Amino acid sequence: MTESVERLSLPKGPALLLVLLAALAFLTLATGVAFAQPSAQAADGEALFKEKCVACHTIGGGKLVGPDLQGVTERQDPVWLKQWILAPDQVLASGDPIATGLFKEYNNVPMPNLGLTPDQVDALLAYLGGGATTGGAGAELPAGDAVSGKAYFVGDQRFSNGGPHCISCHSVAGLGSLGGGNLGPDLTNSGYTQSETAFASFISAPSTQTMNSIWASTPLTLQEQADLYAFLSKAAIQQREPSSLLQIALLAILGAALLIALANLYWGKRLRGVRKPMVERARAAAKR
Ligand code: HEC
Ligand code: HEC
Repeated sequence: MTESVERLSLPKGPALLLVLLAALAFLTLATGVAFAQPSAQAADGEALFKEKCVACHTIGGGKLVGPDLQGVTERQDPVWLKQWILAPDQVLASGDPIATGLFKEYNNVPMPNLGLTPDQVDALLAYLGGGATTGGAGAELPAGDAVSGKAYFVGDQRFSNGGPHCISCHSVAGLGSLGGGNLGPDLTNSGYTQSETAFASFISAPSTQTMNSIWASTPLTLQEQADLYAFLSKAAIQQREPSSLLQIALLAILGAALLIALANLYWGKRLRGVRKPMVERARAAAKR
């Protein structure tokens, strides 16, 4: 009798401890969440929005590169919205009809994947749903010179604070795609090369890891930013013109036709040169 009680009570201790621990964990979690919501979360969201989104969006200030986000938490499904801000590139690539429609409406400019965590997206949504507004766009650049922008991009001209040349990591409109760097994305269709505001606020304080680590210590001057923007925006637009694409395609076809004709001339003769004596030898043998 006493023995069976002993055996039963043995596992009771650890089990009770587990239940207590679980309860404690639940309590700290619940109170933690309760304290974090909702105002602190919205404040985090506001800071994030100012850092990563204002280049392309206003809340109640009109369209920039992307739509005005006033009321977006009511006009879009919350699950879609969260997925979108988390990975817009993947949502668009999946053929999602809303994303495809927006992409067309906004001149085929993709919203970049900003590498946010789910917590950051929740904070942004709390802020967007909180009825806050922002003004219109802020940053403005002096007039830029595309020729000097190109010289900066490819490295013919040095940056005054000594930063590395863009072409060591980026290509744009075919420039740099052969032999250039590909650590960074091709900038031809980047949302940041479609509007001066978007470019200026990104490049003056890049919100992404690699870019930030370079340009925080060797910032570009306003004139350098303006020249780069003048070059990048022009290069991107030229690349997207269908007439130049057509010309390239025609040139390629012409080139191929020429090569085939040349090969035919050269190899054709050579083949005949081998075949002819063989045929003649065979004929001579047949006569004998
Ligand atoms: C480089 C510009 C750019 C940046 C930066 C950017 N977006 Fe966008 N965003 C766009 C564009 C352009 C669209 C329209 C869809 C498209 O073209 O892909 C869009 C669409 C959206 C939409 C859907 C709007 C609607 O009407 O349904 C939401 C929501 C959104 N962005 C939120 C954000 C948030 C939040 C951030 C910051 C974390 C952000 N965006 C950063 C360019 C940008
Ligand atoms: C050492 C490599 C490196 C150099 C040099 C560099 N970049 Fe970048 N850049 C990157 C990487 C990597 C990314 C992707 C985001 C990240 O990790 O920072 C990026 C992202 C960008 C983007 C955002 C593209 C998008 O659509 O998301 C722009 C715009 C940009 N770079 C412009 C420039 C310009 C202009 C220069 C020259 C003044 C430059 N970069 C020099 C590596 C570089």
